[in-house]
Amino acid sequence: MPRTEVHKLMERMAIPAIAAPMFLVSNPALTLACCGEGLMGSFPAHGTRSREEFQAWLDEMVEGMKRLEDAGKQPAPWAVNLVVHASNPRYQGDLELVEKYKVPVVLTSKGAPGDAIKRIHGWGAVALHDIANRRHAEKALEAGVDGVIAVAGGAGGHTGTINPFALMNEVRQLGDSFAVVLAGGQTTGRDVFAAEAMGADLAYIGTRFIATEEAMAAQAHKDMILGTRATDVFLTASIDGAPANWLTPSLLAAGIDLDVLRTTLPGKIVGAQENKKRWKDIYTAGHGVGNIDDVPAAADLVRRLVSQYREAKSEMAHRLAGRAAA
Ligand SMILES: Cc1cc2nc3c(=O)[nH]c(=O)nc-3n(C[C@H](O)[C@H](O)[C@H](O)COP(=O)(O)O)c2cc1C
Repeated sequence: MPRTEVHKLMERMAIPAIAAPMFLVSNPALTLACCGEGLMGSFPAHGTRSREEFQAWLDEMVEGMKRLEDAGKQPAPWAVNLVVHASNPRYQGDLELVEKYKVPVVLTSKGAPGDAIKRIHGWGAVALHDIANRRHAEKALEAGVDGVIAVAGGAGGHTGTINPFALMNEVRQLGDSFAVVLAGGQTTGRDVFAAEAMGADLAYIGTRFIATEEAMAAQAHKDMILGTRATDVFLTASIDGAPANWLTPSLLAAGIDLDVLRTTLPGKIVGAQENKKRWKDIYTAGHGVGNIDDVPAAADLVRRLVSQYREAKSEMAHRLAGRAAA
């Protein structure tokens, strides 16, 4: 059962959570810091400028994981995000490298994962695919994924728009033989526990990890995360064609008129820069920003998440025991 494959990975984790891949934010240093403390780290292949740089990052990961193991740690597995869409010119080359390095978990996004899944399973890896609604999930499951990443409303980057409870319930209508990773707005260990209670196997945490020392995000992006709340997050498909959440102060700083944005049809790009610049100068973040007020080292953040998770669990156990006794 595909879900069992995911649960096997989780045996090596201190908390059922993944530091989500983030363009221009995630890198091997952040990924290794997370894995070292028992939370699955990840980065997108397209976060590198070239195939050569991607290969250098993969080398850094292999060496870093070995260092952690040599130091007596049992690191969590790591993952790479691949855009499996014909529009990604690096798709085949990057897939070749991911295969060569036998990356243990592949997070596929955009498009239909199709043949990639067979190939990923060929080297014994687990494949999880991004979805934003039940139809996407059906297609991913037809392609043979081990699990889906259910991106609910309020997530950073390209987001879903469906409420997390509604999305979880619709996805779980498709069965329980596959894993579900829930994404959107989670910033604490308690949130991870809540995701599990909703039927998810793992939580997918992005925005919280932007505000860490290791994240490659611009200092201004980190500062903006500390200074904003959920009401400062603006959902629009007009910046880069797909629905994404953007920080309002960065839209204003880029000279974008919010009224124009509100009345612009999806796909009618407002920011007329090339894609990378859009993501570089206009900052994305999820609704969780209002609960982030520091920039710790990633290892410290993971330790905090683990202790919050354990606390939430034992608090719930006490509550349930109290109810049973009453
Ligand atoms: C700055 C940023 C960049 C992102 N880049 C990617 C990416 O390259 N690939 C991807 O699959 N998801 C990307 N995402 C989405 C995350 O992987 C994840 O779905 C999301 O951050 C979860 O919601 P949260 O930010 O509210 O925790 C990005 C998110 C952010 C905030």
